[in-house]
Parts: sequence; C-alpha cells; structure tokens
Amino acid sequence: MKRPIYLDHLATTPCDPRVVAAMLPYLTEHFGNAGSRTHQYGWAADEAVKLAREHVAAVLGAQPREIIFTSGATEASNLAIKGVAEACVARGRHVITQVTEHHAVLGPMEILEKHGFSVTRLPVDAEGRVDPAAVEAALRPDTILVSLMLANNEIGTVQPVAEVAALCRARDVRVHTDAAQAVGKIPVDVHALGVDLLSLSGHKIYGPKGIGALYVRHGQPRVPLVAQVHGGSQERGLRAGTLPVHQIVGFGEAMRLAGDLLADEGPRLAHLRDVLQAGILAGLDGVYVNGPAEGRLPGALSLSFDGVDGQGLITALRELALSSGSACMSDPPTPSHVLAAIGRSPALVHASLRFGLGRGTTAADVDAAVTCVVDGVRSLRARRAGVHPPAGIMR
Ligand SMILES: Cc1ncc(COP(=O)(O)O)c(C=O)c1O
Repeated sequence: MKRPIYLDHLATTPCDPRVVAAMLPYLTEHFGNAGSRTHQYGWAADEAVKLAREHVAAVLGAQPREIIFTSGATEASNLAIKGVAEACVARGRHVITQVTEHHAVLGPMEILEKHGFSVTRLPVDAEGRVDPAAVEAALRPDTILVSLMLANNEIGTVQPVAEVAALCRARDVRVHTDAAQAVGKIPVDVHALGVDLLSLSGHKIYGPKGIGALYVRHGQPRVPLVAQVHGGSQERGLRAGTLPVHQIVGFGEAMRLAGDLLADEGPRLAHLRDVLQAGILAGLDGVYVNGPAEGRLPGALSLSFDGVDGQGLITALRELALSSGSACMSDPPTPSHVLAAIGRSPALVHASLRFGLGRGTTAADVDAAVTCVVDGVRSLRARRAGVHPPAGIMR
C-alpha cells in the first residue's frame, strides 16, 4: 500500500493513465494549432478538439457547440457570472448565490459588488442545503442571475439545483451551476437540471489540470454572455487564446471515462465512504458528520472531532493525505466558511478533516484510514488530558 494513502480526491485527482495516453501524441507528432486551416497539422488538431468537445457534451446531454473550453472551473464560473452580469446590466443589477459556494464563485461575486451590483448570499441549513423557497423569496424584478453549486467541495451536499432552476426559468432569470465536484460522481444532465450555464474542471475527474469548460445553453431564451478574455475568435468569441489541444484531448477522454464508469464508481465510493464513516464513529465518541446523510457526494466525508486541534490532527495523521477544515491556500490558513455556515463552532471547524475517496481508493485503504484516525484522535485526546496512552495506541 502506497503511503501516505491519498484521500484528498476532492482537491485533485491523478491523471488516469488512459487520459495520459490519449494526450501524449498531441504534445509531439500532432502538435498543430487547431486554428491552422491550411495544413494537415492544424486539421488533425481541430479534429481532436471536435471529438473531445463531443465527449464532454455527451456526458452532460448537451450539444458540442454548447461547450466553451476554459482553463478550469474557476475561469468558467468567472465567465458565467461576470459575462451574464455585463450582458444584462441594462436589465438589472441583482444576483443571488449562497454562502457555501467555492471561491471560484464567491470571488467574481465580490467583483460584481465592486461594480455596483447587489449580491444576495443565501444561508444554508445544518446539512448545507439552500431552501428553494428562500431563493424564490429573494428573486426581484432586477435579478439577472442565480448561481448555485451542484455539489459542495467540502461536505458533499448536493443542492436542489433543478428545483431552483425551474423557479428561475418561470421568472426569466438565468441560472449557473458550478458542477466541478458533481460531474463523474453523480448523474449530471443539463436538461434534467434546467440550467443555462454549468462549470466543469478537468483535474477533479482524472484529467489534467489547467483545463475545464463552461456549458452555455443554446436556444431560446438566449443566454446573454459577454467574453471576459479578449483576443482571437476561438470558442465562438467567448474565450480567446490558442486552444491547448493536448489538455482538451485529455479532458475529453476523462469525461468519456467518467461517463462510462459512473454507474459502478458511484455506488462503490458511497459504500467505501460509509464504511469509513461507520468505522470512525464506532471507534470514537465526540465525532460530528458534516453534510447530509442523503444527497451527499459518494466518496465525500467531512468530520469534526471534539477535544483535538486541527494542526495536531493533521500532524498525527501523516500516513493519510487529506485536508483539514481550513483553507490551506491562504496564509495563514483561514477556517472553512462552509463548516461555519452549517453552524459548527470555531473549535470544531479547526478540528475537522475532509476525506475524498476516489478511483484508486481500496477497501484496504479505508480500513487503514479508520485505524489511523481512531488511534490518532485517541492519542491526541489522551495527551491533552495528560493521560499517557497505553503502548500500541501511539502512532
Ligand atoms: C466546487 C469547485 N468549484 C471550482 C473549483 C475550481 O476548479 P479549477 O481548479 O478547475 O479552477 C473547485 C476546485 O477546487 C471546486 O471544488
């Protein structure tokens, strides 16, 4: 078993070897610019991009022309939010989102506020869910966009996006969803969801980093969108820049595999997650599960522990590669806004772990993780209480 055991698949995933194999020729012999119309190198690149676009669209039930390649879900969400706001500014300056969104959505919302828009950030319940009735109540005549993530990246809560989208459609308000964590883990169909815009990321689904896409619904009512990256006319003028063909090919293959494997991987990961959760809860008191029992991403488990501190926890669990309840990208680390939003105390927020199980996770990994967490937390608590733990428990 490889150590540390990788249990951070919600942060990123390894590239599937089939994805790497698909990408490699597009770094070497098929290196052409997909925009070159005058020779074989360009045609081959263009063909590969076309096929990848078809793969991405097929998994979502979308049309290939509705897929705009971007550098990832962050850029896709920036394009969706700022692009709709800029296009609709004459109609209204109000947008709605909710407090547990990823920073990829919260960031552009702050920018809109700086440009005179009004942003309503709805609260969530103790399981991290937004009430569709609250969205309906927040809609105003000047509301132009609602952005509601499909699945949360820390606690795995799946939001009632289809319900919210139906309410918005009736009021002619456009809907964006950040599906970076949902795709490949739960079924994602743009028609079933009824959304206008949907963000995707390659590296969450065993594809390469630095690639993603925005789904932009084609047809009536039109989705008004203004480009946020200017230059060439690539991607129907909505995202300028030479297409990174190898990344797009890898993303397309990752999406194709995600679609093919979903029916098996979803239940397998849900089962492993349940075994992990049950094992830790059986071995320890004072553990709180963050996120809902039903309607949670398979493979996602967030736990808060009484009587330990977060940094001690991560240090004690060096055999496991996982995330704490703090956003480590920031310096100093800031407590999770998601755990705070569901009502966890500051002490519990700091004493939290996020497990993300994935394609490479085995039952043996989960058993080892249970032992590691139970022993680690027991020994931290014993140390805190000034009790010397019995031999064999310290790790
Ligand atoms: C829900 C969610 N949205 C957006 C992102 C950002 O995606 P990317 O790294 O492709 O920009 C992430 C990744 O951390 C995420 O979990």
